[in-house]
Amino acid sequence: MLSKKIEAALNTQIGHEFTAGYTYLSMAAWFEFNHWTGFAKWMYAQREEELMHGMKMYKFTCDRGGRVELPALVKPPTEFKNPHDVFARAFLMEKANSKTINDLYGLAVDERDYMTQSFLKWFLDEQVEEENITDEVEALLKVAADNPGALVTLNNLLGQHAGGSPGTTAGRPPGGRPA
Ligand SMILES: [Fe+2]
Ligand SMILES: [Fe+2]
Repeated sequence: MLSKKIEAALNTQIGHEFTAGYTYLSMAAWFEFNHWTGFAKWMYAQREEELMHGMKMYKFTCDRGGRVELPALVKPPTEFKNPHDVFARAFLMEKANSKTINDLYGLAVDERDYMTQSFLKWFLDEQVEEENITDEVEALLKVAADNPGALVTLNNLLGQHAGGSPGTTAGRPPGGRPA
């Protein structure tokens, strides 16, 4: 059984995961509008990943006898300066998400909730991966700056590698077309 504190913190984190998914979708929309379909595809894949994270936490909360109470989603940004700006914001969001997961783990330690600690280990590892890849793409886009050739190459590369984690539907745009 979950303590009330852990239950509330899990609900908050579920909201962060779904908000991250919603934000990635908004980023995908900006890329679609500007004809960067490779970048958009990568964003769809991230969206699927975040929804999967949210559902994983939702299921865990239910399995431990907790009550899921979904919080409001935060309105995502809709305007961006350029592809680099989008990824810079994505990186900030991933870092913020790492912090909240870290804090949640800390709470599970304080509460001596070993099951929640064990469950959260997967999320900690996942954040290392997500921060790393987002940071890498952001750095490359910074180097590419306004060079159209470099931007087109990165757009194509990201479109090809928008695979996501195994076992998810990542990499597929809404409607389920194969990646
Ligand atoms: Fe996540
Ligand atoms: Fe993420």
